[in-house]
Amino acid sequence: MPQQAPFFKNALDHPIFKTVAKAASNLQLETYVIGGFVRDYILQRGDAKDLDFVAVGSGIQLAKEVSSLLPGKPKVSVFKNYGTAMLKTGPLELEFVGARKESYQEDSRNPAVENGTLEEDQNRRDFTINALAISVNEDSFGKLLDPFQGLQDLERKIIRTPLDPDVTYSDDPLRMLRAIRFATQLNFTIEAESLASIQRNASRIKIISNERIVEEIHKILMAPVPSIGFSLLHKTGLLKYIFPELVALQGIEEKEGQLHKDNFWHTLEVVDNIAQTTDNLWLRWAALLHDIGKAPTKRFDKKNGWTFHGHEFVGSKMVYKLFKRLKLPLNDKMKLVQKMVLMSSRPIVLATDVTDSAVRRLIFDAGEHVEDLMTLCEADITTKNPKRFKKYHNNFKRVREKIVEVEERDHIRNFQPPISGEEIMETFSLKPSREIGIIKDAIKEAILEGDIPNEYEAAKEFMYQKAAELGLNIN
Ligand code: CTP
Repeated sequence: MPQQAPFFKNALDHPIFKTVAKAASNLQLETYVIGGFVRDYILQRGDAKDLDFVAVGSGIQLAKEVSSLLPGKPKVSVFKNYGTAMLKTGPLELEFVGARKESYQEDSRNPAVENGTLEEDQNRRDFTINALAISVNEDSFGKLLDPFQGLQDLERKIIRTPLDPDVTYSDDPLRMLRAIRFATQLNFTIEAESLASIQRNASRIKIISNERIVEEIHKILMAPVPSIGFSLLHKTGLLKYIFPELVALQGIEEKEGQLHKDNFWHTLEVVDNIAQTTDNLWLRWAALLHDIGKAPTKRFDKKNGWTFHGHEFVGSKMVYKLFKRLKLPLNDKMKLVQKMVLMSSRPIVLATDVTDSAVRRLIFDAGEHVEDLMTLCEADITTKNPKRFKKYHNNFKRVREKIVEVEERDHIRNFQPPISGEEIMETFSLKPSREIGIIKDAIKEAILEGDIPNEYEAAKEFMYQKAAELGLNIN
C-alpha cells in the first residue's frame, strides 16, 4: 500500500492561504505553497514572511486574482520574462510562478521557460528540502506533496538534490553556494554525491554575479557557526574563486624548527568566536579579514623567527580591493572593516601595560568603534592553553574598564579640539599658516598624553605657552 501523504493544515492557518485558495478555485488553477516556507514551517524556524506559490498554469493571472480579493488590492509586480509576479500584503511578500520545466543554456543562468506539471517544477528545484509543496487547493487543502523524500531529508538533516547533482548544479551554479549556506544555517550535512559534484563543478561559480555570491556569504557569516560554511567552501575548492586571500592563509611552514600557526583555521575560529558575541555583519567581516595581510607580509629570519610586520596596514588596503572586487559597498561599512583590520593588534599591545595615555590614544583613534575593536580582539583569543586564555581575557577586561574610566573623565571619544584654528588665528593675528597646525597638534598631543585636561581653559593657557615658544605675539 502506498503511504498516505501527511497533511499540514496547521501550516496554512494564516488567512492569506484561504484567500489564495479562493483565487485558485475562481481560476480553476492547481496551486501549492512551496520552497522555503514549507521547509521552515516543518523545521519550526519561526514565521516566514516570504511565501512562494506555484500554479499549474499562469502564476501571473493567479497573482492578479489574489490581489483583487485582498483589501486595498495591492499592486502586482509582474516579471514577464520569468513568468513570475509578486505582491506585498502587510508584512508578507507573496511570489507566484507558473509550474515549469526548465532547460538552462550552458553559459547563462537565464532559463528558457516551458510550462510543466507540479512534479516537473519540483524536479528543477535545488534541494529536496526546498521542493516540498503543500496544496492550497480546496479539495486537498494542507496535503504535502513530497516526491523526493524531502521530509525524510529534513529529519535526517541532509542536503540532497532532486536530480543528479551534476545536472542541478550546472543548471544553476549558485546552488553550490546555496547548499553550503543551508548546511551552515541549518547544521545539515551535504550528501556525499552532492559534495563530490560541487568539487567537480566548482569552477562554474565564475559565471555567477558577485552580488549573488555575496548574498550567500552574508548568510553564512550570519549563521551561528560560520566556520561550517567556510570550511566547506575550502574543502570543495570554491573558496579560491571567491576569497583567494583566505586560501593564501592556509598552511603551516616550518623553518629551522620554527612553526607559525595556520592563519586560515585560526581566522575561522575567530569568526566563530565573534558570532557568539555580535550580530553586526560588518564586525563579522572584520573577523574574517583581520589577518589577510599575513600572507603577503610573512617573513622568516634567524633572529626573529616568523614575522608578519605591517600586516594590519597591508590587510586594511586589501580590504578595499576585496570589497571592490566583490561589489561590496565602499562606504562607512567598508571603513569600519578597514579600521578594525588596521587596529586589530592595538589592544593586544596595551593589554600588558595599560597606561592612561595609551588608552586615550586608543579611544581617539578608534572613535565610536572602540568597543567593536575590543570585541574583535577578544574573539581573536584562540589559545588552547586555559591559563593563557584566562589571562588574555582578564587583560582585555582591564583594558575595557580603563576605557570606561578614561572616557568618563576625559571625553576623548568624539574628540573636538577645545581651541579652534580660527581662535588661534585671531589671538595671534595670523593668516592661515603652518604655525596654526603646529599649535593645534601640540594641544591635541598634550591632551592625549595627559599633560593637560581636555578643557578649554587649560588648552588656552597651553596655546599661549606654545605660541611663546614659536615667538608669536598676542594680538
Ligand atoms: N530555488 C532553486 N534554485 C535557486 C534558488 C531558489 O531551486 N537557485 C527554489 C527553491 O525551491 C527555493 C525557492 O526557489 O526554496 C525560493 O528561493 P529563495 O527565496 O531564494 O530561498 P528560500 O528557500 O525561500 O530560502 P531563504 O529565504 O533562506 O533564502
